[in-house]
Amino acid sequence: MAEKKIIAVVGATGAQGGGLARAILNDRGSAFAVRALTRDVNSDKAQELARLGAEVVAADLDNPTSLKLAFEGAHGAYCVTFFWDHFMPEREMTQAGAMANAAKNAGVKHVIWSTLEDTRKWVPLADERMPTLMGKYKVPHFDGKGAANEAFRQFRVPTTFLLTSFYWENLIYFGLGPKRGPDGTLALTLPMGDKKLPGIAAEDIGRCAYGIFRRGFEFVGKTVGIAGGHLTGGQMAAALARALGEEVRYNDVPPDAYRALGFPGAEELGNMFQFKRDFEADYCGARSIELSRSLNPSLQSFDAWLAANKDRIPRE
Ligand SMILES: NC(=O)c1ccc[n+]([C@@H]2O[C@H](COP(=O)([O-])OP(=O)(O)OC[C@H]3O[C@@H](n4cnc5c(N)ncnc54)[C@H](OP(=O)(O)O)[C@@H]3O)[C@@H](O)[C@H]2O)c1
Repeated sequence: MAEKKIIAVVGATGAQGGGLARAILNDRGSAFAVRALTRDVNSDKAQELARLGAEVVAADLDNPTSLKLAFEGAHGAYCVTFFWDHFMPEREMTQAGAMANAAKNAGVKHVIWSTLEDTRKWVPLADERMPTLMGKYKVPHFDGKGAANEAFRQFRVPTTFLLTSFYWENLIYFGLGPKRGPDGTLALTLPMGDKKLPGIAAEDIGRCAYGIFRRGFEFVGKTVGIAGGHLTGGQMAAALARALGEEVRYNDVPPDAYRALGFPGAEELGNMFQFKRDFEADYCGARSIELSRSLNPSLQSFDAWLAANKDRIPRE
């Protein structure tokens, strides 16, 4: 059998990288092998990947030397940053630069960079429809990733720019699920008006990335957007109601009200949802469900994801 091509997976113990690692490891005949990057090779998640057949190596995005070593000999690399660990877009840009540099030095033939739109191209800082955050961003966790695309271009790394979507798992882990109001009815609060929110099961992101690697160099230099569904807040609430077996209202609020909710990241998410609402055609248009399904035939719809996950959604 021909030697397998190594894919170095950043964040292999997390959602996106984990989905890719499992997609490769579960495909016995795969042409690819997984090199799982982690800061702690002894963690339970790292050990589980080793048990499944991954090569587990130590690397830290804040340590460029460790990245260079980890990318050495790899055919491909999946690159992602972790905004919600530190809330610093500059750090994401530095880390993306370090990954691009390491990929260049190691001669990696295909990088998938998990990115998002630089929303300032649609909403310049002077645009007062939403506040400027941290002095120079509209949606910091989008803008930093979008700005970091340039690092991969500058280093001339053969890159597929992967536009991800809202994880439906946010309804479980991120506090964005339906909440019970004073009248006892569940309500899903989103400042989306009647516009559609592209979403995806987190595990499907890595499966789509696997599809991109499997298709060779077809998407190098291109932007690929993925989603499992485009649903309005009303459609999401209706699907939740069907799955949970109780009424779920859609509570459409103005972005200003959402930004004022006061939880950590509320302003950031208020701006993010407003961007998706105000530029629905561009944002949805960049995320084809059909292409996502062609990359990943087991792509889940929101209904399918709910059927498998409804018992994990808090109902307080
Ligand atoms: N939530 C959403 O709806 C959504 C949608 C689109 C995009 N995103 C973006 O997705 C990104 C997060 O990806 P994810 O959900 O896959 O993350 P995740 O599940 O939180 O995984 C984080 C993993 O990254 C590793 N990690 C953290 N810091 C690291 C560092 N300095 N060096 C090396 N590895 C590090 C950790 O592994 P070890 O501890 O093993 O090192 C951890 O397992 C964010 O930037 C976010 O903006 C999120």
